[in-house]
Amino acid sequence: MQIQRIQSSVTQTDADAIVVGVFEATPLSGAAAEVDAALGGAIRGLIERKEFTGRSYETASLLVGVGRARQSLVIGLGKKDRFDAGAAFRCSAAAARYLAGKPRANVAFFLDEGWPAESTESGVCGALVGCTGQDLYRADKSRHPFEKLLWSGGSEAALASGRILGESVNLTRRLVNEPADVIYPETFAKRAAEVAAQNELQFEVWDEQRLETERCGAMLAVAKGSNRPARLVVLRHQGAAPDAPTLAIVGKGVTFDSGGLSLKTPDGMLTMKCDKAGASTMVGAMQAIAQLKLPINVVGLAGLVENMTGPAAMKLGDVLRARNGRTIEVHNTDAEGRLVLADLLSLAVDLGVSKIIDLATLTGACVVALGTEVAGVMTNQQAWCNSVIGAARKVGEPIWQLPMYPEIYDEQIKSEVADIKNVGDGRWGGAITAAKFLEQFVGTTPWAHIDIAGPAFRDKAKPWCDGGASGQFVRTLVEVARQWQP
Ligand code: BES
Ligand code: MN
Ligand code: ZN
Repeated sequence: MQIQRIQSSVTQTDADAIVVGVFEATPLSGAAAEVDAALGGAIRGLIERKEFTGRSYETASLLVGVGRARQSLVIGLGKKDRFDAGAAFRCSAAAARYLAGKPRANVAFFLDEGWPAESTESGVCGALVGCTGQDLYRADKSRHPFEKLLWSGGSEAALASGRILGESVNLTRRLVNEPADVIYPETFAKRAAEVAAQNELQFEVWDEQRLETERCGAMLAVAKGSNRPARLVVLRHQGAAPDAPTLAIVGKGVTFDSGGLSLKTPDGMLTMKCDKAGASTMVGAMQAIAQLKLPINVVGLAGLVENMTGPAAMKLGDVLRARNGRTIEVHNTDAEGRLVLADLLSLAVDLGVSKIIDLATLTGACVVALGTEVAGVMTNQQAWCNSVIGAARKVGEPIWQLPMYPEIYDEQIKSEVADIKNVGDGRWGGAITAAKFLEQFVGTTPWAHIDIAGPAFRDKAKPWCDGGASGQFVRTLVEVARQWQP
């Protein structure tokens, strides 16, 4: 999609549609006031008659020409004192999503009235996300990205970075939304290689043999149940001196999670193409970090496997040896994500990275705890966790920390047979016992684990985003890389 910054007034802009914004319980200003005047008080009339209040994502479509534009969309921006970069992303996305319901060539956004650069960037990013759907294989498309997005206000730099973020979020969404028979470990690795080639990222892929010699026994055990061989992808962005401290972004890439022999129910399995969201988020973030040329060294690791029930599938009671030598007794083959991450996290430690973030659609328990829109975060070092939470807050991606009390939870992953088992005792606190398991593989490296089982994939659309993959946490990762202080 073309993106162009415009400086013409709202009534002088040639477009199929223009977008103006209205805050709740706040007098009209800027472009909304101009459109209102041009249409003889039409917007004020809607507000007086309580047809429109300005609540977040509320829409009013005015199907008449305004100046040189054919029609306008009024979008609610919510409470003015609560407006931030996250709201800019969602409101702009909601407007774009609405207008992308039909094919349109030029759509001009007049929301940005002297916004801070981070809101401009988020708004442009949101527009790209909002007009892209999950209709990959539908003949009759439900979303039609505009040919050209016109944006009033902001700087060229903020528009450029907004585009980079929007395209990267959409890349992540695309990887997650592709079905498991299109994207499996080998094809995921191939797509990652393409992203690397286009963005000057270093790329490396490990096949089964290499995984064997690298002692990735936990991840390989998950892959045994599938006829699709495992892959491990390494992406590197070198924006700083070769010996400068490195950030590791580690992603769970289970391209399909049937549960294995601890088989899921049909309902539970339906959306399990989403189980590669962690790895997909890593790839999207690496693309953005490279395109933004951030002055930091980042290594991205994706563990790619399919969790199936083939004749060689791992069994309950099997004992696996992870890369760091820890032995794991398998109590549930559906707790496979932590097995994949075990080897990846050990590898990150062996690479000598200075800090680790992992992302994984790891537990249903995290969704029970926090609901579908909020990610859980767990850590072994509070200062690092605070930076991650701060970055998420800045871009408006909801996240909440869960505790890691050693005296309460450490007991729960002990095994009679091996060093640890891959589930806790009983089902309570499942998001935390999963994180406790992961903690066994990070040594003393500062580490934050983000459980995105809720927000990564939506059954239903939100006003600002179609159902399916959300791409959530790509923007947080980029913000973490921007704020990086090793
Ligand atoms: N991929 C699932 C977690 C998940 C659930 C992601 C819902 C997205 C939406 C994970 O591999 C899993 O199956 N976890 C089990 C762990 C349990 C067996 C200890 C779960 O949450 O039930
Ligand atoms: Mn599972
Ligand atoms: Zn899983």
